[in-house]
Amino acid sequence: MPKITFVEADGTEIVVEARSGISLMENAIANNVDGIEAECGGSCMCATCHCYLADDQAGLSVMQDDEDEMLGFVASERKPGSRLSCQITVTDDMDGMQVHLPAEQN
Ligand code: FES
Repeated sequence: MPKITFVEADGTEIVVEARSGISLMENAIANNVDGIEAECGGSCMCATCHCYLADDQAGLSVMQDDEDEMLGFVASERKPGSRLSCQITVTDDMDGMQVHLPAEQN
């Protein structure tokens, strides 16, 4: 089980034992991480699961066009490491990953 640290906008860290094979968003929801809302349930339609990841994060999937498009609707600033957490499948390679959360999701 990869350990993933969610870092809220105020610096609060939440370390979770994540499940591989499901999305980063699903892992956040399962562990009551407040900074991820996921209003559409993971259909890449709401942009309320926005997070910031390091570009060189191991195991990170390539961004698809629909995710890129939805990132145009995020409430907090889009940055180079911006991703939608529902589009990221957690893998064992992600052990130690830090996921920074934006100040607001909608
Ligand atoms: S949960 Fe809605 S876009 Fe990710």
